[in-house]
Amino acid sequence: MEAGCCYVPLMRIVVTAGPTREAIDPVRFISNRSSGRMGYAVAEEAVARGHGVVLIAGPVALADPPGAQVIRVTTSEDMLAAVGNALESCDALVMAAAVADWRPVTVSAEKIKKSRIPPVIRLEPAPDILKTLRPRKGGRIFVGFAAETGNPLPEAVRKLRDKGLDMIVANDVSQADAGFDVETNRCTLVTGEDEAVALPLMSKMDVAGRILDWIEKRRAG
Ligand code: CTP
Repeated sequence: MEAGCCYVPLMRIVVTAGPTREAIDPVRFISNRSSGRMGYAVAEEAVARGHGVVLIAGPVALADPPGAQVIRVTTSEDMLAAVGNALESCDALVMAAAVADWRPVTVSAEKIKKSRIPPVIRLEPAPDILKTLRPRKGGRIFVGFAAETGNPLPEAVRKLRDKGLDMIVANDVSQADAGFDVETNRCTLVTGEDEAVALPLMSKMDVAGRILDWIEKRRAG
């Protein structure tokens, strides 16, 4: 092998996956349709490449990928705390989780009876994990996801800038073969250099590979 031509630095990578749940009472919550498959694919592929992986997962029905340190969380607040703890010793953060944007202002300690359910549940913003941790980014590589309905590119570019990301993975989740709970995805990788690489329909494992190729290349300088 020619010296330096194929050097891939091993990294410590934090990956988030799945939805979060924001409780209304002990039996009800606000959540979303994320299955966690995309984040799990990134974690699995990163382990296969020899990276150290911390996978922070919301409630999903997937088996832990062997070789990753898995931390299970429920709420956006839990996920923020777990990512915050893991950040210090990591080189890259891949935020594939579909974090709730809103949470109930008050959580009832007891099940709310049908007859007493208020017609309106008051909500407040849940913490934005990427924005909150942005001041601690330093030289770390931050990758986000923009799952949109319709053309995802304008929103992806807005989020890339707004959240200070190095790359954002944009996809249109209204397509049957690229949305929630399917094994395939059709993404565009948008970078801070305003490059947009449209990937064809491929398995989430292959998308994970493309994301990691980019992170490794960026890390190698
Ligand atoms: N994200 C986050 N914290 C949140 C919500 C989202 O860190 N509370 C991260 C997601 O993990 C993803 C990126 O931000 O990597 C974009 O998430 P998305 O839900 O598409 O965007 P939002 O910021 O929620 O904006 P909008 O609701 O307008 O789409």
